[in-house]
Amino acid sequence: MSASSPYGYSAETFEIDRYLEEQSSLDQLRLITCGSVDDGKSTLIGRLLYEAKSLFEDQLESLRKESERFGTQDGEIDFALLVDGLSAEREQGITIDVAYRFFQTDKRKFIIADTPGHEQYTRNMATGASTADVAILLIDARQGVLTQTRRHAYIVSLLGIKRVVLAINKMDLVSYAREVYEQIVREFTESSAHLSLDEFTAIPVSALKGDNIIERSPHTPWYHGPTLLGLLETLPVRDALRDAPLRFPVQWVNRPHLDFRGVSGTVVAGEVKVGQRCRVLPSGQEVNIARIVTMDGDLEGATTGEAPTLVFDREVDASRGDVVVSAESPCEVADQLAAHLVWMSEEEGLVGRSYLLKIGAITCSASVTSLKHTVDVNSYEERPATTLSLNDIASVNLSLDRPVPFEPYHACAPMGSFILIDRHSFATLAAGMIKHPLRRATNIHHHHHTIGAPQRALQKGHKGCVVWLTGLSGSGKSTIADHLERLLYAQGIHTYLLDGDNVRHGLNRDLGFTDADRVENIRRVAEVARLMADAGLVVITAFISPFRAERELARSLTPEGFFVEVYVNTPLQVAEERDPKGLYKKAREGDLPNFTGIGSPYEPPERPELEVNTTERSPEESARAVLELVQRCVQIKEGLD
Ligand code: ADX
Repeated sequence: MSASSPYGYSAETFEIDRYLEEQSSLDQLRLITCGSVDDGKSTLIGRLLYEAKSLFEDQLESLRKESERFGTQDGEIDFALLVDGLSAEREQGITIDVAYRFFQTDKRKFIIADTPGHEQYTRNMATGASTADVAILLIDARQGVLTQTRRHAYIVSLLGIKRVVLAINKMDLVSYAREVYEQIVREFTESSAHLSLDEFTAIPVSALKGDNIIERSPHTPWYHGPTLLGLLETLPVRDALRDAPLRFPVQWVNRPHLDFRGVSGTVVAGEVKVGQRCRVLPSGQEVNIARIVTMDGDLEGATTGEAPTLVFDREVDASRGDVVVSAESPCEVADQLAAHLVWMSEEEGLVGRSYLLKIGAITCSASVTSLKHTVDVNSYEERPATTLSLNDIASVNLSLDRPVPFEPYHACAPMGSFILIDRHSFATLAAGMIKHPLRRATNIHHHHHTIGAPQRALQKGHKGCVVWLTGLSGSGKSTIADHLERLLYAQGIHTYLLDGDNVRHGLNRDLGFTDADRVENIRRVAEVARLMADAGLVVITAFISPFRAERELARSLTPEGFFVEVYVNTPLQVAEERDPKGLYKKAREGDLPNFTGIGSPYEPPERPELEVNTTERSPEESARAVLELVQRCVQIKEGLD
C-alpha cells in the first residue's frame, strides 16, 4: 500500500490488523442511483467517493489534471470526469452496462450500482441491483419532478426497493431557495402516493459544491434533516432473505470422480444445515443434506450469500437449473405466470412470439399469452396495449414450455426475476418480475393414451410429419403444395393441406396482417399442424410465415426430424410480376398497407431442409424434390419405432 492510503491513514501509523478487522465487521449498504448525467449523477457519485476518501492520491492527481484539460468547472475538480469514464475507458470507447463502485466510511461500506444513460433501470434489474437497499433519485432543482423521475420511482418500487432518497441537486443554481425544495417535495409526495415506497427523505444538495453531502451546508439553514452521507450511514440494510425459507438454485453438478457427487450454487435465501430435509424442484424428490462442502472444508451450515456444494444422503437426479428448497416451505412450480415486464428493446414485443426466458440457471422457451395493460408512468394509469415498445412497463401472462420453480418477486427477488431473450440475436429484450402463478395449467394434466403416434403410423403404413412451405405472396407455395399433395395421395400417403387463404376464412378469420396478428396466425397453424401430424397425417402448410421466430416455434412443436421447412424462393420482383391476385399492384398504389415484401418484412430461412428456386424449376419439379424428403421422413423402418 502506498504511503498515502485511500482511507487517509499513513503507512507508518497504520495498524493493519485492527484496521482490517474493523473494516470486515462493517455492514454493507447497496445503493442504486437513478438520474441522468444532466441531473449531476456522475458528479454526485464522484463527490461521494471523494468525501469518503476512497480515491487514491494518484487517481486524484490525474483527476486534477483532467479537470484542467477537459473540465467544465473553472479550475475546481470536475468529479463527473471520474465517473463518466476514467480517461482510458473513454478513449477506448468502452461502454459498460453496470459499474459497481465501492467506497466506505468509518461506519459502513457502500456499493453503488451505476449505469450509463437510459439503460439505467433495465440492465440493473437483470444484473442484480434488485438487491439494492436504497435508491437515490436525483432531481435537478431547476427542473423539478420530471417524467423520468416518476418512471424511476415506479421502477424502483416495482423492484421492491422500499427506501428512496431524493437528492435535490444543483441547489446552488437556484440560490438555495427553500420554496424550490418544498415545491419539489410536494410534487414527489403527490406523484408517489400510489407507489409501494415505505418512505423517502428529500435532501437539498449541491454535488458540485459539496453542500449537505457530508457536512451541513451554511447555505440551507432552513433544512434540518440529515446530510446525504449521514443518512446513508444509518439507513437499515435489507436482509429479510436470511430469515426466509431455503432457496438454493443449482448452478452445476459437481462430480470430480465416481465417489463424489454434489450440487454447487449459491444460497439465495434462508439457510441450509447438515441433516436438513430438502426437496429438489421441479421433480419434487426429497433428500436429507449429508454434507455441506466448501474449499475450506466441510461446514455444519451455510447462509444466504454463501456458495457451497451440497451432498445429499441418496442419489437423486438433480441438474443445473433445479432448485433445492426447504421441504417444509417449498416454492411454487408452474409453467403459467403473471408478471411485470419492462421492455428494453427497439424490437417490438409481440404476443404469442416464442422467446427465451432465463430465470436463475434455467433457460426455457416462453411467450406472452396475454398483454393485460401497460402503465403510463406519468399518471401511473393502466392503458390497453397490443404490442410492447421500448421502455414499456407491462402486466402480462406468460406461458413457459416447462414448469419452473420460482417465487413471487416481492417475496424473493433472486427467485422471481427473469429476462426475455431474442432467439436469434440473443439480445436481451425485457426484464421481468413474477407476480404469481396462474392456476389454470396447474390442474390440467397430460393424459397418456394407449394409442399414440407409433400405433397410428402402423395402421396407416407411414408416419406423420409437417411440411412447412414459406415464401412471399405469389411465390408459388400453394401451387407446389397442391402438386405435392397429389403426388403423396397417389402413393397412398394420408395428407392434409393447410393454406393461408383458406385458414384465414375460418379458424383465423379474426386476424389481419399486423405483425402481432401474423404471429398469432402462425402460432395457431403450428398447433393445428402438430396435432394433425400426431394424428398420422403428412401436413402441408402454405403460409407466407414471414418471421423466423414463428417458424422456429412450429419446428419446436414437432418431434425432431419430422419438420421439413421448404423455402419457396422467388425474388420479390418475380412475385410482383406474377401478381396472381393483383395485391402487389394494390400495395404499390398504397391501398394495402403491411403487404409482405413492400410494407412488411420477410425473413428468409437460414437453414431450411430444402430451398426451391421457382425461377429455375417448374412447380412439379419442386414438388418432386420435396416428395423425396417427405418419403424418407415418414417411412416406417422397423415395426414400432
Ligand atoms: S402470414 O404472413 O400470416 O403467414 P398468410 O400466408 O396467412 O400470411 O396469408 C397471406 C395471403 O393473404 C396472401 O397470399 C394474400 O393473398 C393475402 N393478403 C392480404 N393482405 C395481405 C398482406 N398485407 N400481406 C400479405 N398477404 C396478404
